[in-house]
Amino acid sequence: MMSYSWISKNPPLSWWPLFVCVFVAEMALGQVRYSIPEEMSTGSVVGNIIQDLGLDVKRLTSGRARIFTEDGSEYIGLNAEKGNLVVAKRIDREELCKQLSPCSLYFQIILDNPMELHRIDVEITDINDNAPLFSKKEYNFQVSESALPGARYSLESAKDPDVAHNTIQTYKLNPTDHFKLNIISRPDGTKYIEMVLHTSLDREKQEEHKLTLTAYDGGNPQKSSSVKINVLVLDANDNAPVFSQSVYRVTASENAKKGTVLLRVSATDNDKGTNEEVVYSFSQHTDSASSLFNMDPYTGEMTVIGVLDYEKTKHYEIDIEATDKGGLTDTSKVLIEVTDVNDNAPIISVISLSNPIPEDSAPETVIAMLNIKDLDSGKNGQIKCFINPDLPFKIKSSSINFYSLVSDDILDRETVPEYNITITAMDEGSPPYSTNKTINLRLSDVNDHAPEFPQQFFTALITENNSPGMSFLSVKASDKDSGNNARISYFLEDSQLNGMSASAYFSVNAESGDILAVRSFDYEQRKEFKICIKAQDGGSPPLSSNVTVRVMIQDQNDNAPQVLYPVQTGGSLVAEMVPRSADVGYLVTKVVAVDVDSGQNAWLSYKLQKATDRALFEVGLQNGEVRTIRQVTDKDAVKQRLTVIVEDNGQPSRSATVIVNVAVADSFPEVLSEFTDFTHDKEYNENLTFT
Ligand SMILES: *[C@@H]1O[C@H](CO)[C@@H](O)[C@H](O)[C@H]1NC(C)=O
Ligand SMILES: *[C@@H]1O[C@H](CO)[C@@H](O)[C@H](O)[C@H]1NC(C)=O
Repeated sequence: MMSYSWISKNPPLSWWPLFVCVFVAEMALGQVRYSIPEEMSTGSVVGNIIQDLGLDVKRLTSGRARIFTEDGSEYIGLNAEKGNLVVAKRIDREELCKQLSPCSLYFQIILDNPMELHRIDVEITDINDNAPLFSKKEYNFQVSESALPGARYSLESAKDPDVAHNTIQTYKLNPTDHFKLNIISRPDGTKYIEMVLHTSLDREKQEEHKLTLTAYDGGNPQKSSSVKINVLVLDANDNAPVFSQSVYRVTASENAKKGTVLLRVSATDNDKGTNEEVVYSFSQHTDSASSLFNMDPYTGEMTVIGVLDYEKTKHYEIDIEATDKGGLTDTSKVLIEVTDVNDNAPIISVISLSNPIPEDSAPETVIAMLNIKDLDSGKNGQIKCFINPDLPFKIKSSSINFYSLVSDDILDRETVPEYNITITAMDEGSPPYSTNKTINLRLSDVNDHAPEFPQQFFTALITENNSPGMSFLSVKASDKDSGNNARISYFLEDSQLNGMSASAYFSVNAESGDILAVRSFDYEQRKEFKICIKAQDGGSPPLSSNVTVRVMIQDQNDNAPQVLYPVQTGGSLVAEMVPRSADVGYLVTKVVAVDVDSGQNAWLSYKLQKATDRALFEVGLQNGEVRTIRQVTDKDAVKQRLTVIVEDNGQPSRSATVIVNVAVADSFPEVLSEFTDFTHDKEYNENLTFT
């Protein structure tokens, strides 16, 4: 943004009255038109866009308000603090628009976020800052004394670059005793002037006539300029050459090849002999054309020798002369209209671009402002602008030469993260020229996806008696967003487990999702936990989802079997009675044991480890039943002692032993007498009970 030091100074006073009476601002469809005179001093205020576009000061700053001109000219500047449009450099209407009227500067005020375009037209009105101007100081004519009244002599019209009433309005010729002035208006408004002889000349009376031609403009104050016209009266016998036409018109296409013959002019001379030979040339004041065109002095053929560019100059007006050997001349004009050829491709300029745009941008969001122009004219300069119709974007024409690229559908970064949008501008020439411009548009992420776990729930196994702090499972969620919106943290959702907070049992590593057992578990106390893990992304606001983890504690063989029967009491001794009459297979007793572990760890087997007489008893492997395996005889001792081992099936297995006392007797006294010894037995010195 340009800044103008003048802002602090007082603006020149001279333009104030002008400002009041000339400036007109009108609002039409987001378009503002101002009107200022040319040549205003730099820094003069043209208008205020805050007022005239209905914007506010903050919007100018936030939208980075700036001026865009198609040709890059910087006649008007913007003071973004105050919203003033100011004259940034000298504006000379004549330089800007030549004879074109009205003359306007037009440009766009661009604002971003959201993009806005406002067209501003500044009409530059003419001031009478140019006087009429003749290209020569004087003109010399040779007029034969035999010329008849009514003979016409073409004069060069003066030029005044101002327009309308400030340009040439009239001419006066002085004196008017022999010649009168004839002013003919051309269709284009310019004037063509000629002298008409109205009283015959007499060489013997006056050989030379001096006249003054004055051109006046209509400005206030009026400006004028004069040129001397010297008329030399020739003897009746002398004849000057005469061009076949007073004006030659020809068209030449731009980029015409060098050497192209445009036309052939001719002048005739009624003199005989050497005087008849006429030489053609450009008049002296047409030097600018002499680098582009050549006039063959002998044939009168005019050819192209330079490069004609319609975009630079659309027509040429060349004064030509025919001179005979006697030095007598005639003048004429060649008007060359240059015609346009489609030699320029459209030019696409991106004047404002939002990139990247958020993926949740609504349809019709403006992505870019484009200026597309073609220097050619007519169809050659008419442009069609389009993009691939499959893309979710479209081109809208906002004002002449300005287009906006807008979104045309819902966008989703997770589906298509970027687009290459190729804008094609094609002119309607034949053949047409086209230009492409590709915008690589990226979509920025919006937190529109929550983290997702690959499973609805997880199951984990922990073997009891684990070491505290052991990591037993890692949960991982994924998030389709990107950046912070996809950065996931894991948390343990608090809940009550066994009347304790879940965090007393488990913890989660926020970054890795590793789940740790905080303490050692005992399968015999609790076999299963359900905890909830939350995955939360780093978006704003964050999104989360949760997953249930079922933690199953696995048994370890950490408990030995426990014998419930026979009870190994502290004080008394239990003995089982077997009558001597008992048959083979007599059920003596049943060892009952339990194991608080589970599964194999609690699957018990019973074996006879020691016995007073191994041949008499057996223990059921599965059921712990102690049975006789032969007939009891009188020889068998009353006291029988069996040691049964109970083993679980764990790896390694654990076991317990139990002593089973058996009394082989038919009567209680018999037993009693035998068992009194028992009480002295080291191992069995408890009170004896019979069952
Ligand atoms: C867009 O163009 C660039 C450069 O040619 C290329 O690297 C990229 O893959 C293109 N992207 C798409 C979505 O076509
Ligand atoms: C887990 O997520 C479900 C839905 O996704 C929700 O209803 C529930 O409240 C969440 N549970 C916790 C503990 O956050």
